[in-house]
Amino acid sequence: LKKAAEYLKQGRLVAFPTETVYGLGGSAMANSDAIPKIFATKGRPSDNPLIVHIASRSQLDSLVDPSYKNRLPRCYTTLMDKFWPGPLTLLFPTIPGQQVSEKVTCGLRTVGIRMPAHPVARALLAISNIPLAAPSANTSGRPSTTKASHVAFDLEGKDEPACILDGGECSVGVESTVVTALSDGTDTSGKETLRVLRLGGVSPENLQCCIDEAGLSEQVSVQMEAYTPSTLLPDKAMNVHIAKDTFIPSTPGMKYKHYSPDAKVILVQRSENPSAVSLSKVLSPLKGKKVGILHLENSPLLSALKAQDLGCLSISMGTEGQYEEQAARLFSGLRSMDEQHVDVILVEAVKEEGLGRTVMERLRKSAG
Ligand code: TXA
Ligand code: MG
Repeated sequence: LKKAAEYLKQGRLVAFPTETVYGLGGSAMANSDAIPKIFATKGRPSDNPLIVHIASRSQLDSLVDPSYKNRLPRCYTTLMDKFWPGPLTLLFPTIPGQQVSEKVTCGLRTVGIRMPAHPVARALLAISNIPLAAPSANTSGRPSTTKASHVAFDLEGKDEPACILDGGECSVGVESTVVTALSDGTDTSGKETLRVLRLGGVSPENLQCCIDEAGLSEQVSVQMEAYTPSTLLPDKAMNVHIAKDTFIPSTPGMKYKHYSPDAKVILVQRSENPSAVSLSKVLSPLKGKKVGILHLENSPLLSALKAQDLGCLSISMGTEGQYEEQAARLFSGLRSMDEQHVDVILVEAVKEEGLGRTVMERLRKSAG
C-alpha cells in the first residue's frame, strides 16, 4: 500500500479493488498528470467523465464548489449517511481546474463522488491522502473487472498501471449507482428530484426506501433515466417514476458500447416450458458453434440444450430472485466464457426488480 501510494504521488496509476469493480486510479486534483494516462490506458472516449473516490467526508470540501456548501440538495446528507461507504455516486458542483482536474469532469461543472467500502480501497485512499479518479479498470467497451486477473488480462503490456492491488473478488460485482438531485434553480417549489443516471449497486427501490424512512417522500421524488424498460411499468407502490425520454443519454458514458465480451451475446427470455419452435429458433443458428450458457439454477433452457446433446459450457449466475448473487457473478461469467473461447453466449434474462434492473441493463448493453 505504501508503494502504491508513492506511485500515486508521482502521478502514476494504480489499479485497486472496490466492492463494486476494480478501478484504475490516479490523482483527481487540478495539478494531476495522471488523468490523460487513465484515458489512454483504457482507450476511453475523451468526453466521458470520471468518478472521484474519497476516504472521508472531510475530503469533500476540497472537491465541491464552496459557494454551494449550504445549498446542496437536502436528500444528499440522508443518502450519504445511509449508503457511504458503498456503491452510490452523487454529483456535486465543482470548479474544474481549481479543485478537480478539468480532465476528470471533461469540462462539466459537476463531479461524481463516492466513498468506496472495500478495505483495500479505503486504506489506499487514507494512506495516499489523495482523492482518486477511477473508472472501471477494463479496456473501454469490455465487461468490467471484478478480479485482479481481469485487470491484468485487459491492461497487459501497457505502461500503466504501475501496480495492481489484488483484494480478491469484488462482492457487489456491478458499478456504483450514479445519481443527482442538483437542479438549475428554476424550480422554486422546494421539491427535489433524485435522478438515477446510471443503475448500479444500489437499486432504485433502496433509494426510495431510504427517502421514505427519512420522512422525505413528500419532498423528494426518485426518477430513473437512461433506462429502457421492456416489460416493466412504473411501480406505483414504490413511487418510482420512469422518465419518458429514456433514450436521451443523461450521463455521457451511457451512449457508448459497453460490457461486450469477444463472444456474441444473445439474451433469452426465460420460460418454464419452452416450445419446440422457440427452442429451435434459438438453437438452430448455433450448430457448429461453441456455445456457452450463463443461466439461473434449474434452467429449462440448459436442460433443453443438454437433451439435444448440444455440448455447451454452462456457468450459473445463481438462483432466480437472488439479484445480489446474479450481479456479483455477471461480469466474471462473461469473461470466463471468453477465457474458454466460446463463440456465442446465451444469457437468461432475470426479473427486473431491485438489482435485477441493473443486471438486465448491463446484459442488454453487452448483447448490443
Ligand atoms: O463503481 C464504480 O462506479 C466504479 C468503481 C471503480 O468505483 N467506477 C466506474 O467508473 O464505474 P466508470 O468511469 O466506468 O463509470 C462512470 C460513469 C460513466 O457513465 C460516466 O459518464 C458517469 O459515471 N459520470 C461521471 N461523472 C459524471 C458527471 N459529472 N455527470 C454525469 N455523469 C458522470
Ligand atoms: Mg466502466
